[in-house]
Amino acid sequence: MADTILKIENISKKYGKRLVLEDISFEVKEGEFISLLGPSGCGKTTILRLLIGIEKPNSGRIYKLGEEITDLAPKKRNIGIVFQNYSLFPNMNVYQNIAYALKSRKMSNEEIDKRVNDIIDVVDLSEHIYKKPRNLSGGQQQRVAIARTLVLNPDIILFDEPMSALDADIKVVLRNQLKDIQKKLNITMIYVTHDQEEAFALSDRIMVLNDSKIMQYDTPYNLYHNPSNEFVKKFVVNHLDLKVKSIEDNINDKKGA
Ligand SMILES: Nc1ncnc2c1ncn2[C@@H]1O[C@H](COP(=O)(O)OP(=O)(O)O)[C@@H](O)[C@H]1O
Ligand SMILES: [Mg+2]
Repeated sequence: MADTILKIENISKKYGKRLVLEDISFEVKEGEFISLLGPSGCGKTTILRLLIGIEKPNSGRIYKLGEEITDLAPKKRNIGIVFQNYSLFPNMNVYQNIAYALKSRKMSNEEIDKRVNDIIDVVDLSEHIYKKPRNLSGGQQQRVAIARTLVLNPDIILFDEPMSALDADIKVVLRNQLKDIQKKLNITMIYVTHDQEEAFALSDRIMVLNDSKIMQYDTPYNLYHNPSNEFVKKFVVNHLDLKVKSIEDNINDKKGA
């Protein structure tokens, strides 16, 4: 059994008087792919902001690899994030965009070059290495954004609805590529989405959230077959089309998990 990489203990978060996360606790194992799934406004992005450290909880603790990081500066957490609105540098090519974050680190040019090329290989952009962002498709641009985060070697990588701006067919392709990247690198990923299909195709476990609280945190198989309340049934199960092959496969794949 893999070790616990992340442990969230009784987190509550208020914006002003408004409680947006209410006593949230969960664990993530090393190498797991977790989705946070829930309707708009339920608190998904807030959880990611607390994990990378740009927000502080009002109460509760966060541990990474057994060490408390609740008050640690974002830079020291080694947790990466990919947003929906990734902003690549328009005047830099693929290679330069990915190498940029490493330039400020004490690292030889040879090492930077090796790391960047390795990651370009992982995200399958070798043919596009000298292209500027405007000459790439939306899916390719998003892969550059993922590579930029991966090259820093984070312990955990977070995604905030990274595909919501893309067309449906590109989404499915990028989804498979993301799954491949995760298999190659065995890196822990936490993926925020409001798209049931996406969560069910990608995840080892899914956390269903509603109204600041966790409704159920479970495998795709268990969520589908044993929804623990009416919300999960209505928001998740009733929205799944098992005819989508990747979903059916992933549900059955994780049956024994
Ligand atoms: N900086 C902020 N100040 C005040 N309220 C906020 C702020 N950020 C988010 N909220 C509110 O907190 C709730 C949860 O937001 P968020 O975590 O962004 O939800 P989600 O990502 O699930 O859509 C929402 O009601 C949102 O309006
Ligand atoms: Mg959000």
